[in-house]
Amino acid sequence: MVAINNVTTLDVADGIAVLTIDSPPVNALSGPVRQGLYDGISAALKDDAAKAIVLLCGGRTFIAGADISEFGKPGPQAVGLNETFEAIENATKPVVAAIHGTALGGGLEVALTCHYRVAVPSAKAGLPEVKLGLLPGAGGTQRLPRLTGAAKALAVMTSGDQLSAKEAVSLGIFDKVVDGDLKEGAIAFAKSVIGKPSPRVRDRQEKVEADRGNTALFADFRKANARAFRGQKAPESIIQCIEAAVNLPFDEGIAVERKLFGGLITSPESAAMRHIFFAERQANKIPDVPDSTPLLPIKKVGVIGAGTMGGGISMNFLNAGIPVTIVEMKQDALDRGLGVMRKNYENTAKKGRITEADVEKRMGLVGGSLDLSALADCDLIIEAVFENMEIKKDVFGKLDKIAKPGAILASNTSYLDVNEIASATSRPESVIGLHFFSPANVMRLLEIVRGDKTSKEVIATSMKLAKTIGKVGVLVGVCPGFVGNRMLSQRQIQANALVNEGAMPWDVDKVLYDFGFPMGPFAMSDLAGLDIGWSKEKSTGSTVREVMCEMDRRGQKNGKGFYDYDENRNATPSPVTEKIIKEFAAKSGVNPRTISDQEILERTIYPMINEGAKILEEKKAIRASDIDMVWVTGYGWPIYKGGPMHYADHIGLKTIVERLKAYQAQMGDFFKVSPLLEKLAAEGGKLSSVSN
Ligand code: 3HC
Ligand code: NAI
Repeated sequence: MVAINNVTTLDVADGIAVLTIDSPPVNALSGPVRQGLYDGISAALKDDAAKAIVLLCGGRTFIAGADISEFGKPGPQAVGLNETFEAIENATKPVVAAIHGTALGGGLEVALTCHYRVAVPSAKAGLPEVKLGLLPGAGGTQRLPRLTGAAKALAVMTSGDQLSAKEAVSLGIFDKVVDGDLKEGAIAFAKSVIGKPSPRVRDRQEKVEADRGNTALFADFRKANARAFRGQKAPESIIQCIEAAVNLPFDEGIAVERKLFGGLITSPESAAMRHIFFAERQANKIPDVPDSTPLLPIKKVGVIGAGTMGGGISMNFLNAGIPVTIVEMKQDALDRGLGVMRKNYENTAKKGRITEADVEKRMGLVGGSLDLSALADCDLIIEAVFENMEIKKDVFGKLDKIAKPGAILASNTSYLDVNEIASATSRPESVIGLHFFSPANVMRLLEIVRGDKTSKEVIATSMKLAKTIGKVGVLVGVCPGFVGNRMLSQRQIQANALVNEGAMPWDVDKVLYDFGFPMGPFAMSDLAGLDIGWSKEKSTGSTVREVMCEMDRRGQKNGKGFYDYDENRNATPSPVTEKIIKEFAAKSGVNPRTISDQEILERTIYPMINEGAKILEEKKAIRASDIDMVWVTGYGWPIYKGGPMHYADHIGLKTIVERLKAYQAQMGDFFKVSPLLEKLAAEGGKLSSVSN
C-alpha cells in the first residue's frame, strides 16, 4: 500500500488498484482530498499492474460533498474540482466508485465521473446543494439528467432529498447493489469490466434527447412549485441548468452550470442556508455539558394530558419505537386523545407514508390510564396539562411521590417558570422543560429549558433524545416564553399596534408572507382560533380581537376570522373585519394613517431582534445561532434569511439600532435598544460573535 498523501492510499493487488480516501468526519472534498484523488488516479494509471481502479472511502461514508467550510474562504492550495473530475472521467482504465453511507453533492458528482457505481444496500445518494442555496456545481446538473431524464433530475435536485441504493439503481444512477463486503464486491465488479469500454456519463444521449425541446415539462414544473420555491434563487438556477443539459452539448451545459453556480455561491441566501447547516450542528454543543456526560436510559415514556400537545408528543416516541403511557383526568378525554392519534396515523397511511401494519405497531405501543401511578416505571414523564401554574405544581408534587428515582420530569409549558414548577418536587435536578411545538409530531423544534438546578445528565439525555425522535433540540434558559414565544410576543404586540394605527391585518400579513414566512400573524391567529383564552363572560370589547370574538368571528373553524373563508378554506380579506377595525379606531380616538410596507417590516422584525439581543445578554441562549435555529425550525422563519440574528448581522446592527431609536423617539420605550445591541453596533460587531 502506498500513501498518496495524508488522506489517500493506493493499493494495487491482483490487477485492481484500490484508491482509498480517509478524511474524517465525512470525506468532504477538501483540498487534500481533491489532491489525493488526482494524484492517486495518476499513479494508478501509471502502474502497469493495475487494469482497473476502485474508488473507496474509509470511515462512515463515501464523499459527502464539497467541503462547506471552505466556501467563501480562500481554499487551501490544491488541484481544483474540475481538473480532478476530468482526470477520473478520462482515465484510460475503468474506474468503479464503491459507495457506502451517503454519496451527497460533490460526492455523488465524483461518482458520476467514474465509469461505474456500485453500492451497499444501505447507501444513499443525493444532490442536496439546494438546501445550501446552491446547485450541484461539479457537473451534477449535466450528468444526472443523462442517466435519469429531466423530470427525475428536476425532482432530485430541487428537493435535495436522498435516494436509497435500490432507487438509485432503478433510476440508472448506480449500476449495482453489492451484498456483503463492499471492497470485495467492488473489486469483483472491477475485474468483470477489465478490457471493456469505459462508459462516460457525459456521452450518454438517450435520456436527454428524449426530453429535448420539451418546454412544457419545465414550464409545468415551474408552475407547480412556484409557491414552494418562492424567495429562493437556487431552484430556478437548477431548472435552467437541466434545461441546458437537455438542449445543449455537454460542455456548453457545464458552462451554464458554472456561471449560475458562481451567482449562487456569493448570494446572501446561500450564506444564510450554510449558516443554518452549521447552526444545527452547533446547537448540540453545550459548553458546560461535555460529550462524555453520562446519559440516562429512556426506555419508557409517560405523558400527562391527551390534548392537542400530549397526543402529538406521544406520537414522536411511538414513531421511534419507545412505549408511552398517557394519563388523563377523564376516560372520554383519554379516548378522544387516543382516537386523534390513531386518525393521524391512518391519514399518514392513506398517503402511503407508513403501512397499516405500522399504524397498528405504533398504536400497540401506547397505553392509557386515569391514574398517575401508572407512570411509576417511566424513565421520562412529560406533563402537557393546562397552562396554569397551580395545576402544574399540583401535578409535579404528585409525580414526585410516584416517579422512580432518576426519572426525568419534564414540562411542556409554553411560558411558565420551570424553576417554580421544579420547586414543587424534592428533586429539581430531574426537572426540565421540553417545549414541543404544535403540531408536536411534525414541528422539528424542541426547546429544552434548563432550570437553575437541572442536572447535566438530564440536559445531555434530553439533547440526545431530541435527535432520537428527529427533532432539533435547542437549549434555552428560563424566562417568560423562553426564546421563541418571548420574541414572538414582540412581533405580535407590534402587529396589533399597526392594525390599531390604520394598517389592515392583510397588509401586515402580506409583508411578512413576502418576507418569507408561511403566513402572517393574523392568518396564524385565524388558524389557531381567535377564541383561545377568550371567554364571553370576561370579554370587555377592549381589543379588536375581543370584539371579533363577541361577534362570533372565531377564525378558520367557523369560516369567519380576520379573513372570510370559503368551503375550501381559501381566505379573502373580510369587509366585516375592516369595519370592526375602523369602528374600533374611531371609538379609541385614533386617526387611521397609511403605513408603509417598510414600516410594517421594521416594526414587526426589529423588536424581535432587539429581544433576541436581550436574551443573549441575559444568557438565556448560548449563542445567536441557537436563536436562529429556534426561529427556522419552530416558527417558519425563511431558512434563506438565516434566522433573526443572522438577518440582523446581514442588515447591519447599526441600521437596526438607528431604526429602533427612531421608533423609540416617536412611540416610546417599547423600542428601547438593548445595551448589547447598542454596544455591538457601535463597535461594528455582530451578534454571531456572542458566546455565552
Ligand atoms: N463539508 C464540511 N463539513 C461537513 C460536511 C461538508 N460537506 N458535511 C458534514 N460536515 C461536518 C459537520 O459540520 C459535522 O462537523 P462537527 O462534528 O464539527 O459538527 C461533521 O461533519 C459530522 O456531520 P453530521 O453531524 O451532520 O453527521 P451525520 O452523520 O449526522 O450526517 C451527513 C452526515 C449526512 C453527510 C451530513 O453531514 C450532511 O448532510 N452533510 C452535508 C452534505 C451536503 O450538503 N453535501 C453537499 C455539499 S455542497 C457541494 O457538494 C457543492 C458541489 O456541488 C460543488
Ligand atoms: P389541551 O387543553 O388541548 O390539553 C390539555 C389536556 O390535559 C386536557 O385533555 C386535559 O383533560 C388534560 N389535563 C388537565 N389536567 C390534568 C391532570 N391533572 N391530569 C391529567 N390530565 C390533565 O392543551 P394543550 O394545547 O395540549 O396544551 C398543553 C400544554 O402544552 C400547555 O402547558 C400549553 O401551554 C403547552 N403548549 C401548547 C401548545 C399549543 O399550540 N397548543 C404549543 C406548545 C406548548
